[in-house]
Amino acid sequence: MYNEIEKTREILLNTKKLTVLSGAGISAESGIPTFRGADGLWQKYNVTQLATPEAFKKDPKLVWDFYNWRRGLISKAKCNLAHKALVKLEQKISDFCLITQNIDDLHRKAGNKNIIELHGNIWWIRCTKCDFLKEDRRIPLPFPPLCPKCQSLLRPHVVWFGEALDPDILALAIKEIKTTEILLVVGTSATVQPAASLIWIAKENGAFLIEVNSEPSEATPIMDISLRGKAGEILPQLCE
Ligand code: OAD
Ligand code: ZN
Repeated sequence: MYNEIEKTREILLNTKKLTVLSGAGISAESGIPTFRGADGLWQKYNVTQLATPEAFKKDPKLVWDFYNWRRGLISKAKCNLAHKALVKLEQKISDFCLITQNIDDLHRKAGNKNIIELHGNIWWIRCTKCDFLKEDRRIPLPFPPLCPKCQSLLRPHVVWFGEALDPDILALAIKEIKTTEILLVVGTSATVQPAASLIWIAKENGAFLIEVNSEPSEATPIMDISLRGKAGEILPQLCE
């Protein structure tokens, strides 16, 4: 393991272009439950039933209760050593981009700058009818949150099950992925599309793939290097 880490560090720090793809596992050590782990969010809440446009239409209060609960949890979370290590990598590597599936804002809080949020951001809310969009950190938000422009219901600015990603954001991510020398994949099960497909696109375009995950993921078979363990323990060693 030690040699693997040494080798990976050498490869990482000598690259001109590094792209990182992160998932819920990177925030696990900050106390934010993952989606599919043993104590993942799924076990307590049926997210497939809550985080959908249909659920919001049927019972906006229930869905907002769920997001207010998550906002409370995330507001208390501190970025961990894995987030901090990615800030160091951004400082060391001239062309660096961090693509995240997380909506918890912890990468920004840690200090990363060039971030692409594929699934939105929990601190932003938007109108269900017009183009109104703003940051709002109140917990809980008064219910019903209404649009100041058109009085329609506001919703979290996140991607729900069955919804498409913002095409501009996805295009931006694909552009980075297609030109990257190295893709570092951290804490994602690589099961949710189209986010996971970015890993295969990187592979097709000749990127060197490195994974940091406490368990094997769907993408493990195509990795050049797989480092098994907690992101908060492994990532700091990679950027010393
Ligand atoms: P998952 O919950 O599917 O996967 C979490 C991954 O993190 C698993 O592979 C774990 O093995 C790994 N993991 C857990 N703790 C870790 C640690 N301390 N260090 C390293 N790895 C660790 O989360 P995602 O892959 O991010 O989408 O899920 C993708 C998407 O599914 C989410 O963005 C969300 C959900 O549906 C939307 O909400 C649209
Ligand atoms: Zn509106």
